[in-house]
Amino acid sequence: MAEHIRHVALTDERMPALASLFSRVFKRPFDPEDLRHKYDTSFLGIGGLARMAVDGDQPIASTGILPQRFTSNNQQLLGAQVCDLAALPEVRGTGLHDRLLAEALNIARERGVDFFFTLPNDQAHRALDRHGFSWLPRMRGFKIPVATVPLGRLARRIPLLHRLHLSIASKILNQSRVSDGIRNSHAANGALCVDYSRSYLHSKRRRPSAVINAGGAAAWVAADSALEIGDLDSTGIDDLAPALGTLMRMARNIGCSSLLFQCTVKTKLERALSHQFTGFDSWPVGVLRCRPDVTVEDLRLNFGDLDTF
Ligand SMILES: CC(C)(COP(=O)(O)OP(=O)(O)OC[C@H]1O[C@@H](n2cnc3c(N)ncnc32)[C@H](O)[C@@H]1OP(=O)(O)O)[C@@H](O)C(=O)NCCC(=O)NCCS
Repeated sequence: MAEHIRHVALTDERMPALASLFSRVFKRPFDPEDLRHKYDTSFLGIGGLARMAVDGDQPIASTGILPQRFTSNNQQLLGAQVCDLAALPEVRGTGLHDRLLAEALNIARERGVDFFFTLPNDQAHRALDRHGFSWLPRMRGFKIPVATVPLGRLARRIPLLHRLHLSIASKILNQSRVSDGIRNSHAANGALCVDYSRSYLHSKRRRPSAVINAGGAAAWVAADSALEIGDLDSTGIDDLAPALGTLMRMARNIGCSSLLFQCTVKTKLERALSHQFTGFDSWPVGVLRCRPDVTVEDLRLNFGDLDTF
């Protein structure tokens, strides 16, 4: 590695640098405060796993590692999502990012991470292949249109509408909130799934979100241009229609032009949705175990578990 290039931990004070790196790589603005919130996993007692490469004081590449507590048959495990892989175009294809990723994975293993998971795009997929990730079936997405004034979509381009949409969404979701917690819908089956502690749910409040009662089923939702369904506990219900009715009404009132689900395939929710709607192939799911006894094949993810939710 060239002497002027250093690898550093992504601490709070480096979030403006990360935001400027992301703006150049992903070609849209990023808010340092939002990134600070996203990378704040101090409630787990573990943080600072993400790494950045800097040339002098200029950020040139990053690797996000976001730890999350998981349960599997009453056993506690520490999983970590690998995300936000980014390198400036001028340093790509040089192996610089590859070394940063290798170092970040090693540090996370040393700090007690039991397994990694990732939902990458094609470019990151290739980078992760080189580090031994194996691939589970892709997530299955369902986008169900909602007839409304598409305030959430318009708000993406017009700051004034953005503030209006945020305030409408926060008000409606706060009025509908029934709890600060929800049990992961996969936990009852003994699957490897995220432990939805209250502090975890609290840490995800980067957008207006709430746990609501959707026609008798607990639903964790967040409002953006779509009403995104973080999890829907449909375990005890046979008919999704009342839940979907409530979610549609809420989306209409908030100005979200669709309901958006992202499901692990062959789960009860995915099966129920695919009976009624045409889904689409969504992100691939990569896994890498750090201990031989972790059954990564049992991983069941919800939309809410992802860094983008
Ligand atoms: C994803 C991303 C960070 C990967 O960075 P990268 O530079 O392309 O990847 P690496 O650092 O792993 O470089 C590896 C490539 O350099 C080559 N290379 C050259 N010299 C090398 C060296 N000394 N050591 C290792 N690889 C070397 C490798 O052969 C490999 O090429 P290949 O993919 O054709 O086999 C980068 O493509 C990126 O920023 N993309 C845009 C942002 C994005 O979409 N991120 C994903 C969000 S999920």
